[in-house]
Amino acid sequence: MKNKYALYLILLALSYSCSYVSEEDLIDATPLPEVVTYQANVKSIIDNNCIACHNNPPINGAPISLTTFNDVKNAIENNGLIGRISSTDLAFSMPFGGPRLPQNLIDIVVKWEQDGLLEN
Ligand code: HEC
Repeated sequence: MKNKYALYLILLALSYSCSYVSEEDLIDATPLPEVVTYQANVKSIIDNNCIACHNNPPINGAPISLTTFNDVKNAIENNGLIGRISSTDLAFSMPFGGPRLPQNLIDIVVKWEQDGLLEN
């Protein structure tokens, strides 16, 4: 009996919280870091989304490795990495086959280039 009551309360709390999701809540409003660096901001994005293929050595047909600072910096300067993650053309964009990265993560990589591709 006690458990039933607790379950009811949990369900009530869940439905309550769900009914207040606004569009604003769904957009990640986390401000961009003041200065973006590879170690602090970019490495985790690449590790989580790219090295499944762009490992060292690269697998699944990926042509380049993206496991180090120099790899990723070089791919921005010479392999159009930003164009790949920004593209909405699934035949061209990265991650290969989609889905596209969340916009806030794309923005971090774009800002990394603007900030001068710093390592630390
Ligand atoms: C499922 C495997 C896979 C994942 C995950 C993946 N890639 Fe790729 N990537 C490929 C393949 C295969 C190619 C070659 C085909 C092509 O150019 O479209 C490629 C090509 C590229 C190229 C072009 C290299 C060149 O010199 O032509 C870049 C840059 C790139 N990927 C960056 C990324 C980034 C950044 C991510 C993560 C956000 C990522 N990839 C995730 C498989 C993958």
